[in-house]
Amino acid sequence: MTQVKHFLDLDQIDPDELKSILKKAHALKAQKYNPPQLFAGLSLAMVFDKLSTRTRVSFDVAMKQLGGHTVVMSKGEMQIGGAESIESTANVLSRFVDGVMVRISEHNKLLELAEYSGVPVINGMTDKSHPCQIMADVMTIEEKLGSAEGKKIAWLGDYNNVSQSYIDASKVFGFEFVIALPEDLNGNVPDGVSFTNDAKEAVKDADVLVTDTWVSMGQEGKDIEKFWPYQVNADLMSLAHKDAIFMHCLPIHEWEEVSEEVAKGPQSVIYDEAENRLHAQKAILAWCLEDAGVSVSQKSFNFGNK
Ligand code: CP
Ligand code: NVA
Repeated sequence: MTQVKHFLDLDQIDPDELKSILKKAHALKAQKYNPPQLFAGLSLAMVFDKLSTRTRVSFDVAMKQLGGHTVVMSKGEMQIGGAESIESTANVLSRFVDGVMVRISEHNKLLELAEYSGVPVINGMTDKSHPCQIMADVMTIEEKLGSAEGKKIAWLGDYNNVSQSYIDASKVFGFEFVIALPEDLNGNVPDGVSFTNDAKEAVKDADVLVTDTWVSMGQEGKDIEKFWPYQVNADLMSLAHKDAIFMHCLPIHEWEEVSEEVAKGPQSVIYDEAENRLHAQKAILAWCLEDAGVSVSQKSFNFGNK
C-alpha cells in the first residue's frame, strides 16, 4: 500500500516535491477558466475549530472547480471535541472522504488525526504553523519578483504560526528571512533564525515586507502597545528595495500592523496573495490525492513548467 501523503508542515515534505507543487499551482492558475476535472468523484472534509474566510472558501472552491465535493464541519457541529476521540474521528472520516483539511488550534491534535487517518490530512492552520498560506505567498513572490530564491523577506511584528511556516519555506525556496519583533519576544524565535529588534534594520533593502496580526486567534485581549514600532507604514516601506512588495495573509486588523496607506498602496499585493490560496491549494490537493483514485485525467494533464 502506498504511503498516505499528508500536507502537515513544509519541513516534512521533500523540497523538490514542494517546488513541483508550486509549478502545478502556476499551471492551474493559467487554466483558471478551464479547470481540469482532476477530482471528479472525490470528496474533501473540512474541519474548523476556528474562524476562517480564505481557507474555507478557497479549499471549497478548489475542490469544486476541479470536479470534487466538500463537506464542511465547524466546531460545535461535529462529535470531535465532544465525546468522540480524534482516533475514532480519523478512522470514520477515512471511510467517507478522500482527504481531510483541518484548522485546529493544537498542532498535536492535527498530528494525531493524521496518524490515524487512512486518507491525506492537510494543515489548514494550527497555532504552530500555516503551510498552505506560505505556499500561496511563495507563489505570489514568484509571480511578482520572478523567483523567491535569493530575495530578502522581512517579517515585522509578532512571531507566530505564519512566520514559522515562512522559516520552513526559507530553507526550501532559498530566501533570506529576517524577523523584526519586540525585545521581550526574542526568546520565541527558533535557534538559527535571523532576528532584530530594529524594524528599520530588518527592512533595509528587503524585497518583501510581510506582517500579520499582532493578536492571533485565541490571544484576544493581548496588549499591543509594544508592537507599534513594527507597524508597516510608508516610512518603513521607503527603506526597503524600491520595487519591494507588501504582503499579509489577511485578515488585517485595521490599521494596526499595517497602515491603510501601505495596505491599499501600489506596492501591496494582498489580494493577489489571497487569490493564490485557491491555485496553490488546488496543486496541494492534487499532490495529496494523486494516489486516491484521482480521475485518469490527472495522469494525462500537462501541468507545464510554470
Ligand atoms: N489567511 C487565512 O488563513 O485566512 P482565513 O483565516 O480567513 O482562512
Ligand atoms: N496568525 C493569525 C493568522 C490568521 C490567518 C492567527 O493565527 O489568527
